[in-house]
Amino acid sequence: MNFRLRQLGFLWRLGLSALIFVFFIGFFASAAHMWFKYENRDERPGLTLDDVKAQYSGLETVSPLLTSLRGGHPETLKGPDRETLIKWLTGDKVAENYDSIDIGSAAPSEIIATSCLQCHSRKATTADPKAKAIVLDYADDIKKLSVTRKINAAPIKIKANSTHAHAPAMATMSVVIGLLVLCTRWWRWIGGLLMAAVGIGLLADIGSWWLSEYSDRWAIAIVVGGMVYNVATTLQLLLVLADLWLPGGRGEQSSKS
Ligand code: HEC
Repeated sequence: MNFRLRQLGFLWRLGLSALIFVFFIGFFASAAHMWFKYENRDERPGLTLDDVKAQYSGLETVSPLLTSLRGGHPETLKGPDRETLIKWLTGDKVAENYDSIDIGSAAPSEIIATSCLQCHSRKATTADPKAKAIVLDYADDIKKLSVTRKINAAPIKIKANSTHAHAPAMATMSVVIGLLVLCTRWWRWIGGLLMAAVGIGLLADIGSWWLSEYSDRWAIAIVVGGMVYNVATTLQLLLVLADLWLPGGRGEQSSKS
């Protein structure tokens, strides 16, 4: 193809550049959308791999309290107290038994007060900041950390709906952007590299939405594929933008040929 973007007149370049900024706004909006929609999918703050797993494969969240008690944390906790807490958390009356002295050596609230609060309290002054991020002062704090439950993946209908909206539109968009890059002055291999990254990234991302039905290990492919796709697309757009406005534009080009 001999056509080059830099042969375009000012208004064409202006329009194309504005559209590239529209793409960037779109990417920003997708990122914000993902954050708002998935951030709390695993019912814990922050967007993590678990949110992706929860969305696409479903996730069983085990109570963080239970996990850490079973893992032997804190080392200073006495055996019978640990058993009492585990028995309490695995029972079905966590809220009711918080203050109950009937289930073991002492009431869970007392064990927590004597064995945990020196580190895990809003009032703890000397504690490690990591420990202070988890507070166990009130029944409400405990409640949040004590639930074990299954989060269901998005139903197949939703996945089909999202795939049908995204897959053809994104693939078409990427073909168009790829063609624009092909009309720039930059080395062909750069365009080729980015095109391969975009194609494989998008295939990995969207393909893994469906493979996640079988195993939650595909969550990593969703994330990595999506990242590769976004980074490569952003670079493509920047290359196009640079080509449109860097010197060596229309006048110089036509005087040379
Ligand atoms: C001597 C201080 C100390 C005591 C006592 C202590 N913790 Fe911790 N706890 C920590 C620290 C520090 C961390 C952060 C560890 C990390 O993230 O590496 C932590 C982490 C945790 C976590 C989070 C684990 C995770 O995976 O996010 C839970 C839950 C927890 N503690 C529960 C308890 C309970 C219940 C008790 C009382 C039975 C207790 N802790 C007693 C210092 C303490």
